[in-house]
Amino acid sequence: MKAVIINEFGGTGVMKIEDVERPVPAADEILIKVYASGVNPVDRAVREGGNDILRPYLKWPLILGWDASGIVEEIGSNVTNFKKGDEVYGVPNFPGNGSYAEYMAAKASQFALKPKNLSFNKAAAIPLTGLVAANSIFDLGKLEAGQRIFIQGASGSVGNFAVQFAKVKGAYVIGSASTDKLEFVKQLGADEVIDYKTQSFEELLQDIDVVLEASSVRDNKERLKSIAVLKKGGIFISANVDFPFDDAVKKAMEKKNVKGEFLAAQTNHLTWLNQFA
Ligand SMILES: NC(=O)c1ccc[n+]([C@@H]2O[C@H](COP(=O)([O-])OP(=O)(O)OC[C@H]3O[C@@H](n4cnc5c(N)ncnc54)[C@H](OP(=O)(O)O)[C@@H]3O)[C@@H](O)[C@H]2O)c1
Repeated sequence: MKAVIINEFGGTGVMKIEDVERPVPAADEILIKVYASGVNPVDRAVREGGNDILRPYLKWPLILGWDASGIVEEIGSNVTNFKKGDEVYGVPNFPGNGSYAEYMAAKASQFALKPKNLSFNKAAAIPLTGLVAANSIFDLGKLEAGQRIFIQGASGSVGNFAVQFAKVKGAYVIGSASTDKLEFVKQLGADEVIDYKTQSFEELLQDIDVVLEASSVRDNKERLKSIAVLKKGGIFISANVDFPFDDAVKKAMEKKNVKGEFLAAQTNHLTWLNQFA
């Protein structure tokens, strides 16, 4: 089969289309004929060298792409929830071989049936960012109806899902974005929007229950401001797993009894997501 592989870190030029062995699904895996692959910031980050946490897991040749939709071609001997011909979508194998390929084998638990009314292209844009948004809000943020959540980067791929999920939950949602995207964030359902280019959220907010750092900003000084707007015992969740909390952030969280978490697409919420398709 054909796949886009990398054999070294670098710019877009390190991606090569080559013939590789078609994978064989293990007992708990499905073999998927890939119809569409999503592209995320993490694809570029891995291609450019990953980080200290990821690098030991990256093996050459590596197939990038951790968002996919396709059709089940084969099922592993222990798989009972899919059959050949099912249309599926999910987050395969991160940080192992991904979806820039004609076929991929991935754990059945990482996939769900694709809603019939979503095209393969649209479906492949959802799983990774949709799951990290759901994971951050429901599993880590424990968001409840009536609570106030501040979503930084509400116009982004993770953030826009987070705004919508938080609204479904019945929370009061405040989202930050750049000037041109504020209207979009309002249309998603945000109760309040903050323009990060012209406003300082730390002057506008206080006693927030949950802050989700879904922006691409990696700056512990910004995090100190986020912790300042949280209530005592609030929850701070960051999407930027590659950028650890420094001592000042840890201290500020401890002082306010704030719980700090890094999100990941750990739990498969795709079946839950399907009700909105
Ligand atoms: N842990 C995981 O599994 C995981 C998964 C996916 C993503 N991520 C990380 O989560 C972050 C968001 O990913 P994404 O795919 O949603 O990215 P994205 O679509 O590029 O969104 C980035 C967001 O950050 C906002 N932003 C940019 N510069 C900003 C600034 N100076 N101040 C405040 N906000 C700013 C953008 O606002 P405007 O567009 O309005 O300027 C946008 O809302 C990335 O850092 C990504 O690496 C982590």
